[in-house]
Formats: sequence, C-alpha cells, structure tokens
Amino acid sequence: MNSPARIAVLASGRGSNLQCLLDGIGSGQLDARIVGVFSDKPGAAALDKVAPELRWASAPKDFDNREAFDQALADAVAACNPDWIICAGYMRILGTGFVERFNGRLINIHPSLLPLHKGLHTHARAIEAGDAEHGASVHFVVPELDAGAVLAQARVPVLPSDTPETLANRVLTVEHPLLLASVALLVTGRITEQDGEILCDGQSLLRPLRLDSAGVLVG
Ligand code: GRF
Repeated sequence: MNSPARIAVLASGRGSNLQCLLDGIGSGQLDARIVGVFSDKPGAAALDKVAPELRWASAPKDFDNREAFDQALADAVAACNPDWIICAGYMRILGTGFVERFNGRLINIHPSLLPLHKGLHTHARAIEAGDAEHGASVHFVVPELDAGAVLAQARVPVLPSDTPETLANRVLTVEHPLLLASVALLVTGRITEQDGEILCDGQSLLRPLRLDSAGVLVG
C-alpha cells in the first residue's frame, strides 16, 4: 500500500464529498493524495477543486455506447494508478466491466442506510416510508446497484417537518465525516473485502462501523 495512498475520485456534481477528502488531506487526517478527478459531466463543479492536470471529464453522449464510455473512463482511471477509487456524488451506474476491473478498490458513498433505499431519491423515499432514521452508507461497489458490503454508516433522525431537501442537508452533514473517516481507515490497509464480507484487522465485521458524534468510527 502506497503512503500517501493514491485516490481517484469520480464525481458528477458540486463535489462536497471530494472537498471533504481534500480538507482531510490538508489537515493530516487522511494520508492520501488525489491523483485524479473523473466526471461524466464536463462542467461539474467538482472538477474545479483540483488542478487542471488532474481532471478528466467526458460526456457519455460523445461515445457510441455505454461500454465505450466506461472503457474510456476505466482507462483514464487506471492511468493514474490509484490505490482506491471513490465514487463521491457520481450519478452514473458503473458497468460490470468497470466494476470488475477495479474490484476490491472501488468505494461509493450512498445517501441511505443500506440496504434500505438503493438507487435514487432516497430522501423522499425515506420520508414516504415513514422512516424514523435515515443516513449514509460507505460501501464497496459490486455490479449490482448499491449492493456491495457496507463498511460504515452514519444516522440522522427524520423529523415530521422534513422535506427531501431538509433531510438531504441533514444527511450531508454526516456524509462528509463518514466518508473521510472511512477512507482514512481504508488507506491504512486494515480493511479488506472478500466475497462480500469485510474484514478489519482480519476480523469479520458483523455489522457496519458506526460514525459517533465525535466523527470517529466505532464497532
Ligand atoms: C451526496 O448526497 C452523495 O451521497 C450522493 O451525491 C450527493 C452529492 O454529492 N452520491 P457531492 O456534494 O457532489 O459530493
């Protein structure tokens, strides 16, 4: 494992999760460096958070098909030789070829308490379902959408007055420390994933780690 770890980030939007990783690197909390930011949206604000030479962006519509875009993205990601690939607000489904090429190194943060509410519009769905709690999950990526082993979760209450927007904002306040703490743990090499099971220091994680109020992951 490299030190600092080499991290590639996939993002489609504003990049608040990417910014959190950058802040963690700056503060010394995360022993890593961002070696590339990759987007399916050439105008994504996330791209502006790193130097031009670290940016890669292409519009899928400029490719013959989904596989061709995924192949170009995968080749660009592989070229920066990352230890970890973090999907941080990346809104396209990654094809099986991409996922298998980076199997075991591909991480996503999803704004729900998986396995609840896989897919999109998670905040509205949590409200509609009458969930008392909602939150975010950091998980390994597998070909099935949002189905990989969950490393860590952070929880927030759902309030009767919540709208999808107010709930999304509350979830975002825990997403950032959750992602930073999770990636900081991953780059230590203490976490491995085998056949859908997560091992920490060789011990099987029976349940996702939990982010406590101090921003620390606890078993
Ligand atoms: C976040 O809620 C993240 O969980 C989801 O995309 C949203 C935007 O992320 N995957 P960001 O602000 O672009 O990092």
